[in-house]
Amino acid sequence: MLVTKQPILRRFWYAVMKSSRLDEGPQPFTLLGENIVLWKRADGTPAAARDRCCHRTAKLSKGWVEGDNIVCGYHGWQYDCTGACVKIPQFTSEKIPPGARIDAFRCQEKFGYVWVALDEPLAPILDTPEEGNPQYRRIHQFDEEWKTGALRLMENSFDTAHFSFVHKGTFGQFGKPKPEFFEIRETDYGFEAETIIHINNPPFSHRITGSTEPTTKRHFLNQWHMPFTRRLGIVYPSGIEHTIFTCATPIDDHRIQIIQWLYRNDTEEDCPAALLNEWDVKVVAEDKEILESVVADAPVDVTLRLEEHMPSDRPGLIMRKHLLALLRKYGETEQLSGEIVR
Ligand code: FES
Ligand SMILES: [Fe+2]
Repeated sequence: MLVTKQPILRRFWYAVMKSSRLDEGPQPFTLLGENIVLWKRADGTPAAARDRCCHRTAKLSKGWVEGDNIVCGYHGWQYDCTGACVKIPQFTSEKIPPGARIDAFRCQEKFGYVWVALDEPLAPILDTPEEGNPQYRRIHQFDEEWKTGALRLMENSFDTAHFSFVHKGTFGQFGKPKPEFFEIRETDYGFEAETIIHINNPPFSHRITGSTEPTTKRHFLNQWHMPFTRRLGIVYPSGIEHTIFTCATPIDDHRIQIIQWLYRNDTEEDCPAALLNEWDVKVVAEDKEILESVVADAPVDVTLRLEEHMPSDRPGLIMRKHLLALLRKYGETEQLSGEIVR
């Protein structure tokens, strides 16, 4: 999907980086092809604006923060979080031209990340019952760039047929290529898919699954939140809950920032965060290698009706149908998209 060609995608919230990155000063990020600068105001809340000074076009991310404002490193012009230029050191304040301003974007902090919406959001940032509940701990897992399309990562997240191949080195059961049946329920935010997955349980993952058996299973409740976030609730027979959030934040048509965090209902003593992350780095590296080899915006030929034989292809098709319906609702044309549902 050519995400930068679909203005409607600007009307969603995206996690862009860990909030703590802003303690190091202003940071650049590219969201849907838009170069933005993020900074932290005096009260600790984040702000976002176009990364381009309106004086002589320097990148504001090369500057610094003063109080609530971002300062351009070229001649010291200052902008507040609304994008208004509030100080030109070479002028007296009454001489600031009224047109001296940059575009500012909606920005807030949630789950330890900075979230940005480029245009009026269609929905608030999702909530989850684990957040703030003392029975769960939250663990940051990844924040890195991948060379793939956002929809490609989302479809992969619901594709149970890749486990026995891509993940044969970790939890996948090579030689058992047919995934278990799963049920899909459509919701107002997208859909949820429920199934049982049988997995290998090598010694490395014993503390993660809470089992020392050579194989175990996961109860999967996997939610797709339009357009590019998934919430995967895993429950092991041991009673351990392992809930993963994965954001495929679209940098541009061919790159994403993958941001992932996790909730667990056990303690650091039961299973250290470093161990959880080491295991998931192995699992996710398997996905990364294959996803960086796919074509980010290739159309899907639904005339093959693969989903009749491979039910694991259905979630990806339903995603495309939802996104296509969204484009139509807001008068955008599907021809601009590489992803076509025929
Ligand atoms: S380019 Fe930013 S102050 Fe001159
Ligand atoms: Fe995977």
